[in-house]
Amino acid sequence: MDDLLPPAEPFRAKVVEPIRRLTRSQRLRALDGAHYNLFLLKSDDVYIDLLTDSGTSAMSDRQWGALMVGDEAYAGSRSFDRLRQAVEDVLGFPHVIPTHQGRGAEHVLFSTLVQPGQYVLGNVHFDTTRAHIEHRGAAAEDLAVEAIYDPHDASPFKGNLDVERADAFIRDVGPKAVALILVTVTCNTGGGQPVSVANLAAVRALADRWNIPFFLDACRCAENAYLVRQRDPGYAGKTVAAIVREMCSLADGCTFSAKKDGLANIGGFVALRDPALYQRAAPWAVLFEGFLTYGGLAGRDLEAVAVGLLEVLDHDYLAWRVGQVQRLWTGLRDAGVPLVAPAGGHAVFLDARRFLRHVPQDAFPAQALACALYADGGVRGVEVGGVMAGRDPRTGQERRPRLELVRLAVPRRVYSDAHMTVVIETARRTLARRAEIGGMRFVYEPSVLRHFTAHFAPIPAAELAQA
Ligand code: F0G
Repeated sequence: MDDLLPPAEPFRAKVVEPIRRLTRSQRLRALDGAHYNLFLLKSDDVYIDLLTDSGTSAMSDRQWGALMVGDEAYAGSRSFDRLRQAVEDVLGFPHVIPTHQGRGAEHVLFSTLVQPGQYVLGNVHFDTTRAHIEHRGAAAEDLAVEAIYDPHDASPFKGNLDVERADAFIRDVGPKAVALILVTVTCNTGGGQPVSVANLAAVRALADRWNIPFFLDACRCAENAYLVRQRDPGYAGKTVAAIVREMCSLADGCTFSAKKDGLANIGGFVALRDPALYQRAAPWAVLFEGFLTYGGLAGRDLEAVAVGLLEVLDHDYLAWRVGQVQRLWTGLRDAGVPLVAPAGGHAVFLDARRFLRHVPQDAFPAQALACALYADGGVRGVEVGGVMAGRDPRTGQERRPRLELVRLAVPRRVYSDAHMTVVIETARRTLARRAEIGGMRFVYEPSVLRHFTAHFAPIPAAELAQA
């Protein structure tokens, strides 16, 4: 009977943070002041902030309580022991190197495993992951299944690695040229799509065949496991905790940004099975992040992550959280907004190419759409298209990705479904006036991770029509 009641938050508010909606003309001024780069807006000028689900979670009362018992010792902190134990209990990896966030974990792991000229194979690498691989003088190869590039294809596991293509790639370049395989669960840049356990098992077999390390980018592993449970009938009767353990049992270790499924505002770690690899990685961790029992974090942060990792496995929480993203997806679809199907675990992705058919790729339609959504409703999303893809460091050419998307990432335990209704109404308004939306051009283009700090100027729709 309980299942028939409408879904509602499995928590109640104890602390609130006021937000306000600016007028449209104030928003247009703010947009101009931010050079049409939503990363440069002031958060106070944003009404509903769907820029990222990273570090934006509301912590629980237990996490706030845990902050008070953080052990701030430089070495041997008991808060580290708590984190290490939580990681072992939840993911099954006994060796843990805390880092200030996910990219710190990438820096440590790739410094240990990746040599110049090598390749790292993955489904779709996240932008900081790619940048860290390239920083090592290596190349990041995206080898996700073809379905991920088709926004209409509603296959359940579009985050899967194309194991056959990966096998052919390894055969071609030789196994010594492949530093590691890194599968991101869920596949954020590919639409927040999950990876099946069967696919992870096939990647394990591939890695064993060629003797190549296999890691997960596990920062959304609980959401991935929940979607496995929902979409793979073979897993319907298992707990999310058991599915997470099974996923991790197939890998040699993981990088983890605790700002996602760690339900914390900061933090990350590398987790490893092999003590010898831990010893190789440890000096890099000390160099870049800090001593091995704090890794660039305060002891209290380690506590918050340790508690968050356990809370995130709660079935009621995940059903509500992933359900909220799915309700947002359904509402937008019913409003006629072109979307990537199916809904991702943490985010909904708008298909900017279909939304703004008159804006060519070199005028950055997804950047233009993200700005329009802010102008129309104070909703901040993020461009996942040509701007984020950047240029190939070897040739200097624009990478021109196959998808031009705007991601609306939903922070965990933060917004209500009423907020999501505002988002849907905003997109409906933007859709109604889409013919008047033009493109964007760079005014200032930084060379690395350009999307964070670039400046743009709008290209009027009339000018695009003439070109
Ligand atoms: N891996 C994935 C799959 C990510 O989504 C992120 C961050 C990172 C690694 C890096 O972690 O931010 O803690 O250094 N994603 C955020 C996002 C920024 O908005 O998707 P970090």
